Order: sequence, then C-alpha cells, then structure tokens
Amino acid sequence: MLRAKPPADWLDKIRGNLPAVLVDHAHLERKAATTALCLEKYKDLYPHVEELNAIAIEELQHFQLVLNLLKARQIPFGHAYPSPWISGMMKSIRNGSRHQAIDHLICCSLIEGRSCEKFQMLSGALAECDPELAQFYGSLVESEGNHYATYILMARSIDDAETDRRLDFFLDLDAELVQKPNAFPILH
Ligand SMILES: [Fe+2]
Ligand SMILES: [Fe+2]
Repeated sequence: MLRAKPPADWLDKIRGNLPAVLVDHAHLERKAATTALCLEKYKDLYPHVEELNAIAIEELQHFQLVLNLLKARQIPFGHAYPSPWISGMMKSIRNGSRHQAIDHLICCSLIEGRSCEKFQMLSGALAECDPELAQFYGSLVESEGNHYATYILMARSIDDAETDRRLDFFLDLDAELVQKPNAFPILH
C-alpha cells in the first residue's frame, strides 16, 4: 500500500548507529503508548476505549523491552531526535472533532505501518551482525502490523468514504516526506 520506499542510504545509516537508533526506538514506543491514550479523547472513539488501552499497554511493554536492551548494552537513555516525517504528517491533521479523529488515526496507522516495514527490513539486515537485535525487530513486526490495521478500521468505523479519501492524501504525503534526507540516525 505504501507508495515509496525509505531512502536508499537509510539502512546503512541505521546499521552504523545502532546505540542511537535504540534510544530513538525507545522514544517511539513511549510516544506510541501516549498516542493510543490521546486518541481516547475523541468522542467517536469512546466505543474503542478498551481496545486503545490494550494498544497503550502493548506499546508500553515494547518501550520496556527496548529499555531492557539499552540496559543490557550499557547504552544510556537519552533525548529524542525530531522526525520531520512524523511532524510533517501530524501538521496535516485537520481541526474539527470528526475530521481530526479520522486524520489522527490515519497518521498513527501509517506510523505503525512504516514501523512494521522498517522493523522487517532491520530484522533481515541485522541477522548476521547482530542476531539478538534481528530477532527482537522480527518479534515486533506482527504487533505493529496489527496496530496499523486496527487504527485504519477505527477510522473506517467513523466514516468509510472519508477514510479512503484522506488515506489517499496521507499516502501521497508520506511518499513525499519519507524520501527527504535526514541527518539523524532515526527510524522515522
Ligand atoms: Fe510498538
Ligand atoms: Fe505499535
């Protein structure tokens, strides 16, 4: 479904900066947990509050798993780098309760979808040089893929046609932003 691949040098940059990437990944999981809770503010998502709680718990568990890896590798937990891709997507979320909920869900679903894609790439690329990390990234693929699908279904439960229309818009935006060069060793 995604309309562009990450830049050609993305994988090498990630592979060459694994300690910084793990810190960035820890923040991503932390933000994924808080985002699931944040989505509970929308009236249209009140029927999904327990499902969103379950995602928040799962993301918090992922966060803890990354923190465990940091500790085992004696990498200090540090600050997060900004992601122009994520902020570029979030900036396009419209105001107005229903529109905002649909756009927010689509953005979250594409972040989850890109995580799923990139974790799969990393799992393959690290198989020989860092089997432990390769296994770890492989173990997250299914969960992030499920989050992608869940968020899209939640948007569809609000308005199917509007979700299709906005998904088309955000897929184009994602394809444009994902190709932009980024100086930092970050997953997104
Ligand atoms: Fe996660
Ligand atoms: Fe996720």
